[in-house]
Amino acid sequence: MKTSRRIQVVFVAVLATISVSLILVSPHSDAQSTQKQPQSSQQQSSYMSVNEEPFDVVRARDKANKAGVMAAHQRLLEERYNLSRRVDENVRMTRGKPIPVGPTARLKNGVTWEQLGRMSPDEIRDKGVFPYLPLPHVNHPVGGMVFPQTEIKALARLQRFDLDFDLPDQFLPEFPPAMFLTTRKDLGDVSKGQLITVNNYYELFNGILNPKQLEGLRLLLTQFPQQQFNATADRKTERADGMLGVACFDCHVNGHTSGAFHEVGDIRPQENRRRIETTSLRGVNIQRLFGSQRALKTVEDFTEFEQRAAYFDGDPVIATKKGVNILERGSQVHFMSEFEDILDFPPAPKLNIYGKLDRTKATESEARGEDLFFGKANCSSCHTPPFYTDNQMHDLEVERFFKPRMEGGMMMTAQGPIKTFPLRGIKESPPYLHDGRLLTLEDVVEFFNLVQQLNLSQQEKGDLVAFLRVL
Ligand code: HEC
Ligand code: HEC
Repeated sequence: MKTSRRIQVVFVAVLATISVSLILVSPHSDAQSTQKQPQSSQQQSSYMSVNEEPFDVVRARDKANKAGVMAAHQRLLEERYNLSRRVDENVRMTRGKPIPVGPTARLKNGVTWEQLGRMSPDEIRDKGVFPYLPLPHVNHPVGGMVFPQTEIKALARLQRFDLDFDLPDQFLPEFPPAMFLTTRKDLGDVSKGQLITVNNYYELFNGILNPKQLEGLRLLLTQFPQQQFNATADRKTERADGMLGVACFDCHVNGHTSGAFHEVGDIRPQENRRRIETTSLRGVNIQRLFGSQRALKTVEDFTEFEQRAAYFDGDPVIATKKGVNILERGSQVHFMSEFEDILDFPPAPKLNIYGKLDRTKATESEARGEDLFFGKANCSSCHTPPFYTDNQMHDLEVERFFKPRMEGGMMMTAQGPIKTFPLRGIKESPPYLHDGRLLTLEDVVEFFNLVQQLNLSQQEKGDLVAFLRVL
């Protein structure tokens, strides 16, 4: 009797401890999406709720909240960046868009770039002056795919009713971008300046592609249901054509990128997820890892799992509900991948067959930039020619420079290893890093100057940018 009494007491004590700790780890309700994870006292779940409110109710609430959501995010952007238009009219992307010029990051407390370059990571963290914190989604607790306004002008079905794209157009790739094929380099830009869609691809590519590639391209241009664009009440489109879903090339426009972003599917809870900017598919043929952190091993795997997983935030339950499209591996995934694998980088007329500068064509600044890249700045230890990737992942340990905290509904904290993106054609795909937090190549150089503790001079920074522009 005595023993069972003691067991009872212990049991009650354990129960009490468990419930207290449950309360302690329960989510901050303000960071929760009202739609995806209804506020409750339950422990935060890896799964999304399948219960939905009526579409009209959600739409009305979202529309009423939109101005507030956008204003809060715009304040965060304005605090961090100078978003005014500065471009270099002499350096253009393939189809003529001038590239943006920075650095755009705003420095805090009157500190200068030179002073920052001389500070240790600890000092930068303690003074709270790191200019390149992770970039949150426009509405981080809700997330999902967001398309640039320029693109929505061409494809109205991509408009969401709850939010708009955030970055000004000068920091985005040209729209539509050019398309180059490894198999038909002789043709130059095969898009002929057009936005390739399911309505014109056949005309443009019949006779240039083989029938397998042609069918692969058709699938890459076909809409399939996705988290925000689907037919259920839990959607963010009010257009009938938006309810059909999105196409791969809505984000990877013409096989490149429009700069559309969403949130990575592989992390929980929601506030720890990353904003991810659409990567270009140019040059996937020479790469070995796919996804900034998922590191899937083949283009086929990534092609298959974009729709099954990323389209639905890595949640197969919700995917089933909203209409996942399972691709058949042999005749669909492979056809799509075979097409993706012939998407080439844009021409780089100043590079030789080793992917290095042809010094007879280079300016002095570009040549000095190359020497720095392979020498003092040591960029080449990760970005190895000819395509300027080592096909590895590296942990840049950016968290050395700031204290973990919530900002814009996102937990700013350690982000772990990320894949080394190739740098060929890099001037055509701003903004930079997995989340697009670096708006220009000048910001890239300032970022690595801190991350690698290089203490570069003003001229050295300019030379590195000059070299990046010719890759
Ligand atoms: C939001 C728009 C969006 C749509 C739609 C989309 N993608 Fe992506 N794609 C991305 C983003 C963002 C990444 C980077 C993912 C990451 O970093 O984890 C990516 C990465 C990839 C990669 C790996 C590239 C690399 O260099 O690591 C491939 C391959 C790819 N997508 C193919 C596809 C295919 C095939 C489809 C259609 C089934 C598709 N994508 C639809 C945004 C999109
Ligand atoms: C230790 C390895 C390493 C070194 C050294 C390094 N990088 Fe990187 N680089 C990376 C990784 C990893 C990423 C992706 C990081 C991310 O997205 O968070 C990256 C991203 C970039 C990007 C953006 C690519 C894109 O598509 O968004 C540019 C540009 C770049 N690096 C240039 C440089 C330059 C210039 C230097 C030298 C000053 C340099 N890197 C040094 C590993 C490295």
